[in-house]
Amino acid sequence: MKTLLYVVGARPNFPKLAPVYRAGAELGVRQLIVHTGQHYDEEMSNSFFSSLGIPAPTFNLEIGSGTHAAQTARVMERIEPILVEQRPDWVVVFGDVNSTMAASIVAVKLGLRVAHVEAGLRSDDRTMPEEINRLVTDRLADLLLTPSRDADERLKAEGEPESEIVFVGNVMIDTLFRKVAELGLERPEGRPWPSDASILVTLHRPSNVDDASRFRRIIAALSQVAKERRVLFPAHPRTQKRIADLGLDVGDIEMSGPIPYECLIPLVLRAHVVVTDSGGLQEETSALGIPCLTLRANTERPVTVTHGTNRLVPEPEDLPAAIAATDRSQLPPTIEGWDGDAGRRVVSALLAR
Ligand code: UD1
Repeated sequence: MKTLLYVVGARPNFPKLAPVYRAGAELGVRQLIVHTGQHYDEEMSNSFFSSLGIPAPTFNLEIGSGTHAAQTARVMERIEPILVEQRPDWVVVFGDVNSTMAASIVAVKLGLRVAHVEAGLRSDDRTMPEEINRLVTDRLADLLLTPSRDADERLKAEGEPESEIVFVGNVMIDTLFRKVAELGLERPEGRPWPSDASILVTLHRPSNVDDASRFRRIIAALSQVAKERRVLFPAHPRTQKRIADLGLDVGDIEMSGPIPYECLIPLVLRAHVVVTDSGGLQEETSALGIPCLTLRANTERPVTVTHGTNRLVPEPEDLPAAIAATDRSQLPPTIEGWDGDAGRRVVSALLAR
């Protein structure tokens, strides 16, 4: 039997690992989990393991926070002896975080095969750290498992051999649909999810929160909206820190720290619209049929714009009008491969090679 070694490190990785792990367990595959410890706070990490049914990691590298170089270097140093000792048939990496790229570099240099779940996404914006991570990881990986057809096309255009590209669909939507069902949430037949007219906000990208003047403009726009509607803003630690450091007045915006996945989903479903810069929420809102406004000039997930509910809003000042113009009467669209069965397709692709 083959051994699959999964590398995860940051919050968005965990809902992607869960369905793959479950599918592997059903088939009796030997599975090892390396958690790099890039995210370590309870709500950024541990709560996911328990609530998504992922067993405790086999190895925790405890790399913690740091500059990009420091984080990458720590993952590389600490994962190398584990890979040397375990020599798995596949090293499976997810998404676009620093841990993903770092583990891929080490694995290929040891002659191990790397599979990238969520391959082929591109924002064409190299100021995003994630874009660098995606480019490096895809160039190195032996198996490119894609979430959408545009990703297949992109990889082919970049010269990746077709034999290495496998369309599997979106694993994170497996987790989303499973959680919605577990929480007993059900959409009324033929109607959209009922809304309480609130606005749900999440923001953490350096391009939005690290740029002081832009972040001020965003908070000003959201405070304006909050005078008329409930604006809920569960904030990533990076965002909380920026608000404190800049001494920003958030007005009537209801702020909190990061919240567990099962608390976030009901808020998404009730929202009039979600305002975000998260990749995951662009996908989740699209899969559920909840309108999404993405505070960015680009997205590496164009299928959420062409087939889903996502709209790009590059300028913060345009946000109030975009919120007011949101049509909340949509039913969830159907996106190919976003069907709750992507985890199984990932494991089939790995075991077939
Ligand atoms: C990382 C990913 C990003 C992903 C995001 C989701 C990279 C390059 N970025 O960004 O793609 O969308 O995770 O959450 O890998 N911190 C804590 N507790 C934690 C983790 C972080 O307090 O558990 C704080 C630290 O002050 C840290 C800051 O948050 O400096 C940023 O963390 P970091 O892991 O560097 O990147 P993220 O912004 O979380």
